[in-house]
Amino acid sequence: MSGIRSVVRGIGSYLPANIVTNAELSARIDTSDEWIVQRTGIRQRHIAGEGEFTSHLGLAAARNALAAAGLQPADIDLIVLATSTPDQTFPATSAVIQAELGITHGAAFDVQAVCSGFVFALSTADAHLRTGAFKRALVIGAETFSRILDWEDRGTCVLFGDGAGAMVLEAVPVNEAGNNGVLTSHLRTDGRHRAKLYVDGGPSSTGTVGHLRMEGREVFKHAVGMITDVIEDAFAATGESAQSIDWFVPHQANRRIIDASAQKLGIAPEKVVMTVDRHGNTSAASIPLALDVAARDGRLKAGDLVLIEAMGGGFTWGSALLRW
Ligand code: ACO
Repeated sequence: MSGIRSVVRGIGSYLPANIVTNAELSARIDTSDEWIVQRTGIRQRHIAGEGEFTSHLGLAAARNALAAAGLQPADIDLIVLATSTPDQTFPATSAVIQAELGITHGAAFDVQAVCSGFVFALSTADAHLRTGAFKRALVIGAETFSRILDWEDRGTCVLFGDGAGAMVLEAVPVNEAGNNGVLTSHLRTDGRHRAKLYVDGGPSSTGTVGHLRMEGREVFKHAVGMITDVIEDAFAATGESAQSIDWFVPHQANRRIIDASAQKLGIAPEKVVMTVDRHGNTSAASIPLALDVAARDGRLKAGDLVLIEAMGGGFTWGSALLRW
């Protein structure tokens, strides 16, 4: 499309201080550490404190990503934030973060694709950068799902956590980018599945925020097939394969979905970055959180080929390949 490639300049994340273990949940509702670990792999999750909003988590993650990139807020002219739990119905939470960063130029907007949000936001930012209209983007996934959970519903409340991750992307001429940057992205939606995972409220329907509702088995049934399909699209578009990728950084919904997807694709277990045990499902934040963990512990290095994927409410699903 153009002679520009979006190259990763930095990654950062932020988790609320408060950790809630499975044992603590078991004291409040009829569940057990054994059930949660066996079905999901989750051992704990971080939960935002009173007065701690999605924008606060996203802002902290953005600052960490800018520090990792060695850049200042003024260097950013585009913010694309993925969330299903904005501070307010409007303005966009990205506008709040833009103001807190002191940025007064460029554009900021939110995208809403639930757990696939980060892949959709990355793809959107990449497309804008490649037009040449923007130079550097902050792509953020930030969520406070604890605020839309029904804490009496043991089938859903044990699965989710709060957190944020952010990535700095820079538009670089292809001849300078070499092999690095966002190589391809693939997005899908099929709204016929919308009743399998949804929130039972909203500004236009009930005038309330509502609570998350899910047919867990139905989600599980579709997840692996949808995920592997859209990853095959990424491999077909680039000629890469399960063998050539260095890291598989999936949306962290559930260990069984991740394991089954990796196995079906033939991705070696040691290439899979897994954080669901510590973070739970943080929806749009889970991929940049996992990328940051792998970057900071030294696994993810410059030049590595990284596959990301997600699937979530809608259903939405998507994949992207990046050379770090
Ligand atoms: N603790 C103990 N028992 C529980 C719990 C719990 N937290 N939750 C449900 N149960 C019980 C049910 O009541 C049911 O009991 P019953 O047989 O007496 O009626 C039993 O466990 C089985 O319930 P199912 O819902 O059928 O359990 P399943 O094996 O399907 O596991 C789970 C549930 C973990 C949600 C699974 O369906 C799943 O992983 N689905 C994928 C959903 C997912 O990951 N969603 C995340 C959001 S979407 C995304 O990010 C992709």
